[in-house]
Amino acid sequence: MIVRPTRLVAALIAGFALVGAAQAQKAEVIHWWTSGGEAAAIKEFASMYNKMGGNWQDNPVAGGGGGAARTVIINRMQGGDPPTAAQFNYSNQYREAISAGLLNNLDDLAKKENWDAALPDSIKTSIKVDGHYYAVPVNLHMPFWVWSNKAVLAKAGVTKEPQNMAEVIAALDQVKAKVPGVIPLALGGQGWQENIMFRGVMLANGGKDLWLKVHKDKDLSSKEFRKTLEDFKKLKQYVDPGSPGRDWNLATGMVIEGKAAFQFMGDWAKGEFINAGKSQGKDFGCALVAGPTTPYVIGGDVFVFPKSDKPGVKEAQAKLAAMMYSKEGQVAFNNKKGSIPIRTDVDLSKVDSCTATGVKALKERRLLEAHEQFLAPDAVGAFEDAVSKFWNSDQSVDDALKAMQVAVKR
Ligand code: GAL
Repeated sequence: MIVRPTRLVAALIAGFALVGAAQAQKAEVIHWWTSGGEAAAIKEFASMYNKMGGNWQDNPVAGGGGGAARTVIINRMQGGDPPTAAQFNYSNQYREAISAGLLNNLDDLAKKENWDAALPDSIKTSIKVDGHYYAVPVNLHMPFWVWSNKAVLAKAGVTKEPQNMAEVIAALDQVKAKVPGVIPLALGGQGWQENIMFRGVMLANGGKDLWLKVHKDKDLSSKEFRKTLEDFKKLKQYVDPGSPGRDWNLATGMVIEGKAAFQFMGDWAKGEFINAGKSQGKDFGCALVAGPTTPYVIGGDVFVFPKSDKPGVKEAQAKLAAMMYSKEGQVAFNNKKGSIPIRTDVDLSKVDSCTATGVKALKERRLLEAHEQFLAPDAVGAFEDAVSKFWNSDQSVDDALKAMQVAVKR
């Protein structure tokens, strides 16, 4: 338990008091939350909606990071058979759907909850388009953490969580030398995971300036960016041969079980530790690879609500969105998810120290837009491919740099 619900869902339930089981509002919700921690988190939303008299039809599409789910969602919307609600990340991922007029807006809820004032600008850039709100934000995830197994670190003599690349590499060397049989770095060898690691190294090496230079100015000529490629490739020696294709939660599982020491991953990994009954500080460690005062890169999730001709859909969508943004919904969901609520008016006094870092960043508005908010979806994909090719081949730093420069400008 990380944060405590402040109240019961009484107000929301009251809104449904007259809805009998027979009229239960069916809501098909597509998302990509299939790992243990993720499934536990989305279940909180599902049971809250059902308690309100609704009928949640869960439609998870496997594939961490959501690539497969997004394809299904977009095809369903374009084919005229949309789900009631669908998950996306904060990004440009659903911009085309907005332009094509496929989404209902959430202006009523936004007005009621005063999103204009309550939400940080960097979240609004993603969900508010041409003056209308098109998505409900459910959390704030920071993608660039390093997770560790405390017992393994103790055996290796690593006493401090690494907070820059030199410390990361020194700690990996210590594990390699002193704890034979344990894999220093758990990696799921899938493009999006290799990219999380790459961008974590980038943030550690150049902070906000480098982040904006690369993603906003599309300028990859700095020495910090070159060092990012060099450091990234150094990490390969610590990864086991079983990495290619591995799901992210299996890599987290290796750290949970002490088969591996570290993993670069977003704080959804914390949902797996929590789901396995582990405690932060005692069993596992979390460190921001770019140091504790790094700008907090906005990762996380929204739900959109596609237009539909079917009766009752709009009402079901309004209730789903209100529940997902409610204090109770945000607390219950985020407790299990490893993320933090997007609202600051909930009780966050009992949070662990990883979450406290995020809460502080959110309060101080120390937020930085994700690369996906700057780059076109095509460029995101091309850059991801270039990073993966570099990781998985013996391509030179110079050639990889050239390929990334072309990709980012698409
Ligand atoms: C991200 C999402 C997280 C987490 C992760 C792994 O895109 O924001 O909530 O689920 O994928 O599946």
